[in-house]
Amino acid sequence: MASAKRARYRTEPVPVSVPKIWPAQDGVAEAVAVLRQGGLVAFPTETVYGLGARALDATAVGRIFAAKGRPPRHPLIVHVSGEGDARPLALGWPAAAAFLSCAFWPGPLTLVVDRADRIPGVVTGGGPSVAIRAPAHPVARALLAALGEPIAAPSANRHQSLSPTTAAHVVAQLGGVIDGVLDGGPCAAGIESTVVDVRCIPPVILRPGPIDRDALSRVVPGIVAASPRMGDDEQRASPGLARRHYAPRARLLLERTKAGAVDAARALAADGSRVGLVVYPEDDASSESGALLWRALPCDPAGYGRAIYRVLHELDDEGADVIVVLAVPEGEAWRAVADRLER
Ligand code: TXA
Ligand code: MG
Repeated sequence: MASAKRARYRTEPVPVSVPKIWPAQDGVAEAVAVLRQGGLVAFPTETVYGLGARALDATAVGRIFAAKGRPPRHPLIVHVSGEGDARPLALGWPAAAAFLSCAFWPGPLTLVVDRADRIPGVVTGGGPSVAIRAPAHPVARALLAALGEPIAAPSANRHQSLSPTTAAHVVAQLGGVIDGVLDGGPCAAGIESTVVDVRCIPPVILRPGPIDRDALSRVVPGIVAASPRMGDDEQRASPGLARRHYAPRARLLLERTKAGAVDAARALAADGSRVGLVVYPEDDASSESGALLWRALPCDPAGYGRAIYRVLHELDDEGADVIVVLAVPEGEAWRAVADRLER
């Protein structure tokens, strides 16, 4: 029986129509059993839900790419319990990695280091580096502890679609092609981890995220942000920097002022489009609703970050053709959210 099950995962991905949805911690043992057989399990992290497979099992990792429709050259993040489990996956552990992991792990920070040979090439898109992070979410930590091995996991969405911040988002996008989801409720940060390349001096922020540059600078002074307008070569250094990446189905239109956003939304609605409008602050009481699908978000970066993907998922589900979004304020604290809206 067991060998029949194993054989199933040695072949190309077999669509399974209904994934198991395990409530939080209760499903960890079953999820581990699925992972050990080479299966795919989505799980909550403090940022977004990840789609996990055993990182050292090249066949299982290959199924992640098939399930997401992800190009094979886009490397995955390897999740570990902490620095002790990360070091053997790297060829070296630079001083910046030691300082940053000490300061921010477990947490929403991913470190790019030179890859040790034991990481299958499929994990890193064939590249010489590997991205590693220790998530803080208790369910992710319980899963890693029970498996006792690193887990490769991209965000649990179809390639170039919105990241999921609830188990229901995962099921909506990937329900037919994964084995199960651990449901840990909505994610606390709501946007993906900060990614830092620590192979160079100074280290480079490849993807802004919940830990902003000011916080990183206090630990590694002089850390720099990757240029937002990168050439092709630099984009290849981190495919997550590609222009279109975190997109809803609806067309997204950014407006610099609230008046501009409301005017644009009204004009589009008058032309017959179904229009979502995302503004802030949260207590914005405008009862514009009428023809517009109006959403007001908190006016702080953490609260906004927690809500933005959920709201975009909702507006997609409500059939919006276009979503007009009031641009967020300038400044370091808002950079991660601004980055997602611009792509
Ligand atoms: O918060 C997160 O990071 C979530 C949770 C599940 O951990 N994961 C996530 O994975 O967002 P994904 O695959 O959607 O995004 C991974 C990002 C991409 O921007 C990718 O290009 C970058 O990390 N990345 C992965 N490996 C890399 C590497 N070796 N060098 C440079 N960038 C890398
Ligand atoms: Mg992603």
